[in-house]
Amino acid sequence: GNTKEYNFTVSYAFWAPDCVERSIIVVNGQYPGPAIDVQRGDRVIVRVTNQLYAEGISIHWHGILQTGGSAYMDGSAYVSHCPILPHETFVYNFTVPDQVGTFWWHGHNAGHSSEGFYGSFVVRPNPAFGDTEPFQADGESMLLMNDWWHRSHQDQFIGLDIPQNPTSDFRFVGEPQSLLLNGRGQYNCSLLASVPAAYSAGDALNCSTTSPQCSPNTVIGPITPNSTHRLRIVNTGSLSFLNIAIEGHNMTVVAADANYVTPVSVKYLDVWAGQRYDVLITADQPVANYWITVTVRGRRPNTPPGRWALQYAGAPAGLPTTNASALAAQQPAWDNQNFTLAQQNLYTSLGGSNLTDPVAQNPTRQIVLVNSQNRVDGRKRNVLNGVAYVDPMTPITHTLFFNMTGGYTTGLISDQPPLTYNYIKTIGSPDNYTLATGQSVFEVNEGDVIDVVLQNGVTLVNASDPHPWHLHGMDFWVLGSAAGENFNGSTAKLNTVNPVYRSTVGLIAYGWTYIRFVASNPGPWFFHCHLISHMHMGMNTVINIKPASGVYPAPPPGSQMCGMVTPLVLQDFF
Ligand code: C2O
Ligand code: CU
Repeated sequence: GNTKEYNFTVSYAFWAPDCVERSIIVVNGQYPGPAIDVQRGDRVIVRVTNQLYAEGISIHWHGILQTGGSAYMDGSAYVSHCPILPHETFVYNFTVPDQVGTFWWHGHNAGHSSEGFYGSFVVRPNPAFGDTEPFQADGESMLLMNDWWHRSHQDQFIGLDIPQNPTSDFRFVGEPQSLLLNGRGQYNCSLLASVPAAYSAGDALNCSTTSPQCSPNTVIGPITPNSTHRLRIVNTGSLSFLNIAIEGHNMTVVAADANYVTPVSVKYLDVWAGQRYDVLITADQPVANYWITVTVRGRRPNTPPGRWALQYAGAPAGLPTTNASALAAQQPAWDNQNFTLAQQNLYTSLGGSNLTDPVAQNPTRQIVLVNSQNRVDGRKRNVLNGVAYVDPMTPITHTLFFNMTGGYTTGLISDQPPLTYNYIKTIGSPDNYTLATGQSVFEVNEGDVIDVVLQNGVTLVNASDPHPWHLHGMDFWVLGSAAGENFNGSTAKLNTVNPVYRSTVGLIAYGWTYIRFVASNPGPWFFHCHLISHMHMGMNTVINIKPASGVYPAPPPGSQMCGMVTPLVLQDFF
């Protein structure tokens, strides 16, 4: 392979992605950040310089499996490495493993990915290795779509952290103000009259349809009439589960999270936060402009649909003349769980699945993770089997390599919820559930075959939220999912023949999702709900795969130090 080098300088800037100006995080002065575009087998070197004023940063290459001992390059702050402090440069250096398709990168410390700190990452087939793809496209476009707030992640987190008292507990930032496509959308400034006073004062000042980045519609294309066009669709958002539709065109889904699926045609495509889909569209309609509309699913929306244009080459400049709202109105309703479930279970691996490997047919361990909400140390937290995750002081890779005790807590979280759980009941103190805060690391052996049952419980307001679960380090098979029930131990609803293999999967409200993976990649891997607020509230865990060799790789030269490593290293000087 070749070596592809990038320099990323990360800073704050004023920006008005939806016509309302606020401070956001830009990379090299751009939002979205620079696109990474490489071939399978390439070495990727990204020199990241932090020019934020006072916050540590890290970058996760979402979906890229850091195989071959590069767990340190995974960019999950406090799991993979220490945050890169202001003024510092850290060099990410890894080989793109045996993967081809659509990925993305994003800040992975605190709420940075919701500040605009992300970009696309494409891995192309490598002709030098004779790579081909099982479909053909004449052209392609990247569609990064996400929810957007006028408030910063700090404001959001402060609200989530307000300690409980009987009358004022927790201040949720609420549903997003806008939906963006490739960093642009349009907030309706006239709506400011009806938003809470705390918002409107500042927003009204900063809302202007002549703001430099504000554009009425992002245009995708122009695409060539009668060609096949590939759309690389990523939900880079922080909260919203999105559905995308293209006026007059079906989408043939050919890959999910950079794994080929049996091609399947859909009209309305669900994309959970963190997920990626490659779809093909055939430009067989009259030469014109067509709406692309995006709606919010899974949570009662309070955000106008996003609308952008797909332009055919030769179409007049300007917007479609049809009614975008009519298209958005046809998309599945936010609470249509049957649609969600049917589509999630629609995808199968192309040409069977490596799950047919006898090894992968025999799980060695089953972990049942029940998520619910409770008050832990006075704050509302999202707990997994009673445990709310907090970042450790020392990155887990360091704790493992230096073999330090006390770097993270173990044994806090059990493989099974300790009580007979019920999806319609909050798991918490009423059941004498022990609640704890810590790192809840699962220690597994290299080569283990791990089943995880994600069981959705209820929140403190007796509701159940949808959650997109993402595993670092390895992809997993989605054996099945259901809504409105407890997983009852039966394998009857599981597909062990050709399940889709992917990296982020939805967990439906009041439901369960069953996944399996082979613990093939040694190192500590973050496993979490991809919603930024839920991560902040503790809905994370770490799967540490102990290397069969017993040896953890050393942190690379030039690594930042923090936590317990700093005194360990400094002691040599005194
Ligand atoms: Cu895209 Cu741990 O995240
Ligand atoms: Cu969640």
